[in-house]
Amino acid sequence: MRRLLAALGAVVVSLLSSPIAFSQTFPTKPVTMVVPFAAGGPTDALARIIAESMSRHLGQTVVIDNTTGAAGTIAVGKVVRAPNDGYTVSIGHVGTHVVNGAIYPKLGFDLLSDLEPVILLPSNPQLILSKNDVPAKTLAEFVAYVKANQAKLSAGNAGLGSGSHIGGMAFEKAAGVKLQYVPYRGTGPAMQDLISGQIDLMIDQTSNALPQVRAGKVRAYAITAPARSAAAPDIPTVDEAGLPGMYVTIWHGLWVPKGTPAAVIARLNAAANAALDDPAVRKRLADLGQDIPPADQRSPAALRAFHKAEADKWWPLIKAAGVKIE
Ligand code: MLT
Repeated sequence: MRRLLAALGAVVVSLLSSPIAFSQTFPTKPVTMVVPFAAGGPTDALARIIAESMSRHLGQTVVIDNTTGAAGTIAVGKVVRAPNDGYTVSIGHVGTHVVNGAIYPKLGFDLLSDLEPVILLPSNPQLILSKNDVPAKTLAEFVAYVKANQAKLSAGNAGLGSGSHIGGMAFEKAAGVKLQYVPYRGTGPAMQDLISGQIDLMIDQTSNALPQVRAGKVRAYAITAPARSAAAPDIPTVDEAGLPGMYVTIWHGLWVPKGTPAAVIARLNAAANAALDDPAVRKRLADLGQDIPPADQRSPAALRAFHKAEADKWWPLIKAAGVKIE
């Protein structure tokens, strides 16, 4: 009898430690979502909306950890080095998970192979913004103003490689100007300085900018998309306003460390999918001008393919432009 019990015990232990049993019980404790920028900014806002809904679907709290610095590279490195058990998740965007791979040659990890994709999250265009007391009312007037004053105007961004830096570079190219950047730990704090007039301009995600534009705290000249946003129908597109083709889309995603069991990734993916299908979440995101990817683009495999395609698109462009931090 004692031998039978011991044998049964061994079977139970081996079942519990097998990937299938682990995924059936996962998660048994809170999951940490590492946000690479400051609280109060666009990535943080998206993370909190998704995490709140994912918590309900997972039956465990998804805790937000804002690990800031070096345009998100510190946060992503933290997840790469975390245990590959699904309890540490990286949220980020085209800047943190693609562009930084070319800008920071000494990153110490590979964005494509050291992370496992979980799900593609919403994307949003950016708004070309200035503080309120700039003497320009249209994009054409603003471009002329920046051209005439470029040496003394300051542009906020969230560090080299961030979304606001990508938008800044696109504006520089389209408008034929050179911007003087002031780096922040995220566009949450940068937006506060734009509102108070400490900095003059910023190209920031619609989701972070729209509430401030609606409140009349900053001025928006154009949206970096080929069509107007339903969330901001009064803001002209860059094509309409005079910088044709200056399109920038900041897409987001979730990743876990390499080697995380596929069944655990599937559980996280299902919870995030459920969050994106939740009508309350969809409404909050739509109000912020976020576009939710269709269901067929929300599998781990779809994010893997898209992530690789984006790296293939961006890395040669950045290397050719010579934007690099040693
Ligand atoms: C943030 O959350 O602060 C932004 O995503 C920063 C950026 O990339 O511009």
